[in-house]
Amino acid sequence: MNQEMMRQEMMILGIDTSCDDTGIGIVRGDAVLANVVASQTALHEAFGGVVPEQASREHLNIIDTVCQQALARAGVRLDDIDAVAATYGPGLVGALLVGLNYARALAWSRHIPFIPVHHLAGHIAAASSEPPFLCLIASGGHTSLFDVPAWGHYLELGKSRDDAAGEAFDKVARLLGLGYPGGPALSRLATEGDADAFAFTPPLRQQTGFDFSFSGLKTAVATLVRNQPDAAAADVAASFEHTVVTSLVHVTRRALKQTGRNRLVVAGGVAANLQLRKSLEQLSLELNVNVFVPALELTTDNGAMIALAAQHQLSQDNITNITTKALAIDAAPYLPLHSE
Ligand code: KG4
Ligand code: ZN
Repeated sequence: MNQEMMRQEMMILGIDTSCDDTGIGIVRGDAVLANVVASQTALHEAFGGVVPEQASREHLNIIDTVCQQALARAGVRLDDIDAVAATYGPGLVGALLVGLNYARALAWSRHIPFIPVHHLAGHIAAASSEPPFLCLIASGGHTSLFDVPAWGHYLELGKSRDDAAGEAFDKVARLLGLGYPGGPALSRLATEGDADAFAFTPPLRQQTGFDFSFSGLKTAVATLVRNQPDAAAADVAASFEHTVVTSLVHVTRRALKQTGRNRLVVAGGVAANLQLRKSLEQLSLELNVNVFVPALELTTDNGAMIALAAQHQLSQDNITNITTKALAIDAAPYLPLHSE
């Protein structure tokens, strides 16, 4: 059996515990057989953000149950799993350690390979496209543009100089009293508002590079809310969302033109944003570029995307090499995405 056939046949269980969601998914080839995500939102809501120590303890409490649920949903037994993959970074170190060590122990005890995966490589794999492509990642922790000429090769063209796009959504949602995580709540409220109500200054309009910046915008919203307490929250939300989306699309458009790529992958939690999806559709028509956005349940953190990224590693490298590398790997809270 050749390597590609083997990849299509293999059943991989993928785990992500990089932040506050315990995600375990099972894939075979490109098919997602199960994707169970246990959200800890309720646990962290009272604090307005993730409490790292609490997150690790909760992962530990529920990871085994989530694994059983994923197997049941896929209709398979542990014996059917051919390899186990897990996120090793970046993320909260205590949280990462839970998924990483669970995965390693599972693989070791079943005598099957363990495949360590970079969290962002997982987000990128969720969009089911084949390189070469340009990739916009916008999540709670990252906002970056990568050129991906082949699987395993990631060239960062630009990134946020301060807050990530999702982080800005969360912080502005908090300012507007919308709770945590704020992205989905803010964009829901924005549908009732006027995006032209407030003209926020677009970030980094003069740059020649491909960076992002959202903390100035967040401060502008805070100042507005303080100075105009009667401003309708829906209008503030819509104007803020419009500015973020315009900025993401503006930089991406320039990068597409410069690189000449005709495929764009959009990944990370903010890819769930409907306004962003709409603007990208327009961009796709304007530049004649194919835009790949993951299915909604694959955009935010989950285990299936980690298993999908592991598939690509398997098609690039042989399993002995991967397993040898995996032995030396540790949880890495700070981990730039470079070529693997
Ligand atoms: O990728 P993800 O699940 O976790 C990280 O790796 O960070 O992304 C979560 C982020 C949060 O900041 C959340 O507010 C944002 O994605 N998000 C959204 C939407 N859904 C999730 N932001 C804007 N609009 C949405 N619909
Ligand atoms: Zn993520």
